[in-house]
Amino acid sequence: MSREIRITPSILNADFTRLDDEIRRISKVSDLVHLDVMDDIFVPNFTFDFDSASKIIAASALPVDAHLMVADVDEIAVSYAELGCASVTIHAEATKDIRGTLRNIRNAGARSSLGIKPRTEISEYEGFVDDVDMFLIMTVEPGFGGQSFMEDMMPKVRRTRGIIGDRPIWLQVDGGISMNTIEIALDAGADTFVVGSAVFNAPDPAVMVRTLRDFATAHMKG
Ligand code: DX5
Ligand code: ZN
Repeated sequence: MSREIRITPSILNADFTRLDDEIRRISKVSDLVHLDVMDDIFVPNFTFDFDSASKIIAASALPVDAHLMVADVDEIAVSYAELGCASVTIHAEATKDIRGTLRNIRNAGARSSLGIKPRTEISEYEGFVDDVDMFLIMTVEPGFGGQSFMEDMMPKVRRTRGIIGDRPIWLQVDGGISMNTIEIALDAGADTFVVGSAVFNAPDPAVMVRTLRDFATAHMKG
């Protein structure tokens, strides 16, 4: 099985006063930019409301991978797809009509993605495999950047890779990915890596993205 590696930097730890510039810094070397939308309800942190997110998306030099960590996500997820996001992730724990919302995201022209928190099992959601273009397995409790990678999520990543089988579904991991941990997630079957603090705390974020990608590509087995 040959997998394509994608690096999707998260701007959660970037400079919020100049996000356009921060996105431009990594735009030549990244596949998408990961936008963490938090409402202080689903997670204990707030990032952007829909209006501010719309402005970031409109100005972004990269396609946007929207990660919606918000309660009552069903309707707003479709609005994010309509804004032109390349990918929209809803959390299984926050969505009332998972199948309907995934389909609406697709119909609005974005990749549909289903995310789960560390304490949520993937087996409950494997029935949605034909409605998703990506699964997101959280490798930290959602809410904050800079947390430690949860290696105990790797059996879940492996199970998800097994559920995906030959389908062209991306498998994203989010939280604590760095040069120290990317190989562990890669070996478990991930192919799409959110990297926040390790990229934006690096002296040169673009060099870090390229280094992570080259390392992952070189270490891919099978
Ligand atoms: C956490 C967010 C992540 C976070 C990743 O809730 O979903 O995308 O920004 O940041 P790092 O890479 O620093 O863990
Ligand atoms: Zn995220």
